[in-house]
Amino acid sequence: MEKMIVAIDGPAGAGKSSVTRLLAERLGFQFLDTGAMYRAVTLAAINQGVDLYDESALQSIAAKIEIVFDGEEVFINGENSTAAIREPEVTRSVASVANAPSVRSYLVDLQRRIATQGDFVCEGRDQGTVAFPDSFCKIFLTASPRARAQRRVEQLKLSGKPVEFEAVLRDQEIRDQQDSTREVGRLMKAEDAIELLTDDLSLGEVVGELERIVRERIERTSSSTANQ
Ligand code: DC
Repeated sequence: MEKMIVAIDGPAGAGKSSVTRLLAERLGFQFLDTGAMYRAVTLAAINQGVDLYDESALQSIAAKIEIVFDGEEVFINGENSTAAIREPEVTRSVASVANAPSVRSYLVDLQRRIATQGDFVCEGRDQGTVAFPDSFCKIFLTASPRARAQRRVEQLKLSGKPVEFEAVLRDQEIRDQQDSTREVGRLMKAEDAIELLTDDLSLGEVVGELERIVRERIERTSSSTANQ
């Protein structure tokens, strides 16, 4: 049977990671955090002292490193790099890696290969538009800039790193601008994606709504296949 892919895209801070993990658990699917792949290449480039604007050097790093996901953890060449890929230095530098077309094309191929191994919920910026345009269920998860920034402030407070709301909002605007203006794989809602605005919804409500949408699609797809 054909593997199922739920493609979830949306801007930074829309809650994609938590939603993807919980949704995958409810559906019995695996999840793929594609942002973690761009972060992994960025971390390896920083550690190897590579110029982050040298596209061919970045591509060769992407092709050489081994990225392994084990549940919530990410291993780069066998080393647990789960926390390291989320460090501010990586977050600040990842845009130049994500802008490199040859790195994107390599990582999109890798995402497609991984997704042949089972049913997946894949999250990123280009999952419904570039990586899996034939996905049977595409979601564009979004929230207003202020709601996204507020969630980030609360997360950082909980992890003992309080930051000012205005500073978070400014960084977020920069990331939104980078994400939506890159030449390839820019953040864009696929024409056939369902958009969900999460401002007034709890995490549980978002996951519940998405589960309902996906199950309805599965039902519809299997009954149309049965009628053929
Ligand atoms: O979702 P995130 O913050 O972990 O993503 C890290 C970076 O990678 C961010 O700059 C957007 C970029 N990205 C991308 O260009 N395409 C994807 N499919 C996923 C992330």
